[in-house]
Amino acid sequence: MASHRRPVLAANWKMNHGPTEAAAVIETFLQRHAARDDRTVIMFPPAISLAAVREHTRERTDVKLGVQNVHTAEKGAFTGEISAGMAADAGASFVLVGHSERRHLFGETDEQTAQKCARVVAAGLTPVLCVGELLEQRERGETETVVLTQLRAGVSQLAVGDVRTMLVAYEPVWAIGTGRTATPADATAVHRVIREALRERVGASALDIPILYGGSVNASNAAALLAADQVDGLLVGGASLEPVGWASICGA
Ligand code: 13P
Repeated sequence: MASHRRPVLAANWKMNHGPTEAAAVIETFLQRHAARDDRTVIMFPPAISLAAVREHTRERTDVKLGVQNVHTAEKGAFTGEISAGMAADAGASFVLVGHSERRHLFGETDEQTAQKCARVVAAGLTPVLCVGELLEQRERGETETVVLTQLRAGVSQLAVGDVRTMLVAYEPVWAIGTGRTATPADATAVHRVIREALRERVGASALDIPILYGGSVNASNAAALLAADQVDGLLVGGASLEPVGWASICGA
């Protein structure tokens, strides 16, 4: 981790914790995790639980909120969807864009992630662009190509200034929810490639863009991953659902 980048610990609850459970979980988490000014915590509850989490985090400016997805359009007849503007109105500051489950379970394309990133920025929010290769792509030696294609597409509609303030998450698909984690060295290698591509786009300030690692992070491996060169934070799924364990990861 580079010392000038403040570590980001992000919880992606996916489709878990409705409002009642979310309130209870966040309350316990906040009791266990005292505010610290040397790291940022971002919670990505399901959109329907955002208000409940927001209610409990009002006093905690160290804890930021986000949503897991938004639609490409500003508004309209898109039953079941939410817009970036609505997410902003509901108290979100961040939006996950191009999460592997969006890409591989819901068929989200690079073109859509590009549109979503632009829409997120237009709404005054910060995109967290997720990239990562499938196992067969890694085995074919295509990791770099896949990650760079997703990254370049995702930022293609953004101004340089907006790229400078976004976040990127490297989440190898084979490590998500599988218990199989990338080694710190694996993560560093891919994060370096991402950093270099960002540098080509925005120059030296690419050093300030947090690049998070995600994929089977837990309380046992969090510290080693966070200590790895070029790893500026963690995006945690399953292990963020339980508040005591999540607090321990946030203290890693
Ligand atoms: P797990 O931590 O459950 O592997 O999920 C990672 C992830 O997809 C976070 O966005």
